[in-house]
Amino acid sequence: MNSGGVNSFPLFLAPMAGVTNTVFRSICREHGADVLTSEFVSAEGIFHRNQRTREYLEFLPTERPVGVQLFGGNPEHLAEAAKHVVDWVNPDFIDLNFGCPVNKVVCKQGGSALLKDCPLLERVADAVVRAVAPLSVTAKIRIGWDEKTINATRTAKILEDCGIQRLAVHGRTKAQGYSGEADWNVIAEVAATVKMPVIGNGDITCAQTALRRKNESGVSGLMIGRAAMSNPWIFQEIRTLMETGAEAIPATIEQRWALILGHCRQEIIWRKDENFAMRAMRARLMAYTRGMPGGRHLRGALAQVASLGQLEGLVSNHLAELKAGQLELVTDGSSSRPYL
Ligand SMILES: Cc1cc2nc3c(=O)[nH]c(=O)nc-3n(C[C@H](O)[C@H](O)[C@H](O)COP(=O)(O)O)c2cc1C
Repeated sequence: MNSGGVNSFPLFLAPMAGVTNTVFRSICREHGADVLTSEFVSAEGIFHRNQRTREYLEFLPTERPVGVQLFGGNPEHLAEAAKHVVDWVNPDFIDLNFGCPVNKVVCKQGGSALLKDCPLLERVADAVVRAVAPLSVTAKIRIGWDEKTINATRTAKILEDCGIQRLAVHGRTKAQGYSGEADWNVIAEVAATVKMPVIGNGDITCAQTALRRKNESGVSGLMIGRAAMSNPWIFQEIRTLMETGAEAIPATIEQRWALILGHCRQEIIWRKDENFAMRAMRARLMAYTRGMPGGRHLRGALAQVASLGQLEGLVSNHLAELKAGQLELVTDGSSSRPYL
């Protein structure tokens, strides 16, 4: 399968619920993400033609190659839902979520619940592959349910035999949630076991880590999630390091604020409601400003922001304080590198 057609070693933006909407995906594409995926979408919501669910499927032509990720535990409903998605928006691939650890998904046999029910996982994958053929179906898994039942290589073989064309592996178990570290030894084992491209995911925080993971694990591409939330430049930074061996110059504070304000403006257009959009952006502003000088005070104000004008005022003050030397150019410890 062509993993995006852009680069022989593609960089993927990880699907993230509440984060990777069309606006953020487009930002990541502009900053070098080769392949994009929607946040997870409920197959039951599509199956029952829920209008709200359908809105999660929207993407722009410039986002291609882009996939829609589905979750659920009923093979027939998933197959029907996948067909609807293809009819409605014709994505470049359908991705199946076998990794979500959230209880309300797991208790309905969705997400990572299927990691401990391999026969059902097989039926789900098989049904969806048949339903949308010849369109590519990909999957995303965690390495197992818990540390005693790590079964990623077995799961990967089952999925490959069903016709899944590419597999993203998040190197944590369901039980870990987001704690501990991603186990890249298991990811490497999966990459060495199956023929389909395996995309490694988990804890890639900077270009150096990405390069090390690429060299050590034998994966066919990398997937980046949380690091992109605070630094969408990470894709370009990784590409520069891989292609030239040199570290990219980090974005300046001015460039960061310009991107953040641009994100807010696009979000307002997309949501058609400034107050709603800015409230929805609060968590995103927290991620973007991790490690910025004057962070604590700034973040207190960002947590209350309700209009674009208010944010623009905060940004002007922040830049003026920086220029006047009132803020130290040091991080608050939450980011590994200082801003220029
Ligand atoms: C806020 C958030 C939402 C997420 N939503 C999804 C999702 O909808 N589908 C999915 O497969 N994984 C989801 N994930 C998991 C990520 O895709 C990724 O596997 C995980 O964050 C590890 O990668 P990272 O260390 O690069 O962040 C989510 C993660 C976060 C932090």
